[in-house]
Amino acid sequence: MIIKPDATDRRFIGRIIDRLEKARFQVVQMRMLRLTSAEARRFYAVHEGKPFLDDLVEFMVSGRVVPMVLEKENAVADLRDLIGATDPARAACGTIRQEIALDVQRNSVHASDSDENAAIEIAFFFSD
Ligand code: CMP
Repeated sequence: MIIKPDATDRRFIGRIIDRLEKARFQVVQMRMLRLTSAEARRFYAVHEGKPFLDDLVEFMVSGRVVPMVLEKENAVADLRDLIGATDPARAACGTIRQEIALDVQRNSVHASDSDENAAIEIAFFFSD
């Protein structure tokens, strides 16, 4: 998972981690950093060619991000349920994005969409 700049700027790091821990996710690795444009573009390489990519990269480098590694049985699916739909206007009641996110771009958190992508995204931020 990554806590995105809109959430770090608005001081929601603690609230998001509290939501994760209450849902029985274990935080096993965590960092805080600012991405470069090249890194953000590489991280979101699957979205190459999408109309929102340039704005997304600009947003992701606009402030600090908090990538973390989470453990739980069924973590990918359970985390996606907990954060809600990409667009907070469509996110279910009680989800992190419905509660905190501003719009489809400034949607507060990123979560891996499969175990395979989780492995790739963990390796992106954590060398060990
Ligand atoms: P994320 O789950 O990190 O995956 C890609 C990101 O692109 C998404 O969250 C949003 O922050 C951003 N984004 C901006 N516009 C769109 C859009 N129309 N559809 C999907 N993602 C978008």
